[in-house]
Amino acid sequence: MRPSISRSTVAGLFSVDHSAEAVNSRIGRDADPRLADIMSILVRHLHAAVKEARLTTKEWQTAIQFLTETGQMCTAWRQEFILLSDVLGVSMLVDALDHQRPEGATENTVLGPFHVADAPRYSNGATISLDNKGEPSLIRGRVLDTGGNPIAGACLDVWQCNDDGFYDVQQQDIQPQGNLRGIFESDSEGRFWFRSIKPRHYPIPHDGPVGKLLNLLGRHPYRAAHLHFIISANGYDTAVTHIFVPDCPYLAEDAVFGVKESLVVPFSKVDDAAQAAALGFDGPFWLAEKDFVLAGIGQQPTADIKTICK
Ligand code: BEZ
Ligand code: FE
Repeated sequence: MRPSISRSTVAGLFSVDHSAEAVNSRIGRDADPRLADIMSILVRHLHAAVKEARLTTKEWQTAIQFLTETGQMCTAWRQEFILLSDVLGVSMLVDALDHQRPEGATENTVLGPFHVADAPRYSNGATISLDNKGEPSLIRGRVLDTGGNPIAGACLDVWQCNDDGFYDVQQQDIQPQGNLRGIFESDSEGRFWFRSIKPRHYPIPHDGPVGKLLNLLGRHPYRAAHLHFIISANGYDTAVTHIFVPDCPYLAEDAVFGVKESLVVPFSKVDDAAQAAALGFDGPFWLAEKDFVLAGIGQQPTADIKTICK
């Protein structure tokens, strides 16, 4: 006959009231302390969420099926889990916690999936628009340190979607390779300038499980119109950022929560034939000016990003 075991004699048995404790008490003494901390916090909150929602078996199976499909969607070109992190606001939250910068330094925002290494290198003044679509724009400014001093030789890696709302890598048989992306270097006074088009809003990839989830939640997939930048210089914390267009209808409801007020930049129309000709335009153009301020590596607590453009 099997001995009967009273509940009180076996410590750590699983119960609804002590479910998280039962799981977390199994973490071994030799586990990495940071991993042990993160996992026990995660288990605690996950169990609390399951209890608060009173999740059914069928609902949990649906959630697991969603995560399975999210993983199955991932390829070298499509990272559905990052997209999930983006639409849940977790990418922006982690970045904000991990990149607290001194007052005045340019803020980060999401990297997104469409950056490519080895974009074309250009001299200041060049155009990155190779498909002759969209409204011409001049983007210019300076790269400065937090004391307002110019940073010469800073690298600005820029990319944006075309006027149809697609990045070149999404339309490899349609757009010229390298369309609307390029790498520039700030001059001896920290200045940069290049020609492009006025960015427009576009949907994040929404033909997979994340798009399906947005749809079920009554959420749209649109990103506020933006131009991406990675700005790097030796001795400074790399800024992964955007500039946003102020008149975009999605500014207040970016699908990935990437908009920060400090990154919204006026675009003003210049209708002066002499200025246009001097800058390489054949008609009116939009002018957007933005100075980027980089924090010294010693000035922020978690400087683990390497210079990307070298
Ligand atoms: C983007 O801006 O390219 C982007 C960012 C997050 C998710 C999808 C796209
Ligand atoms: Fe983008």
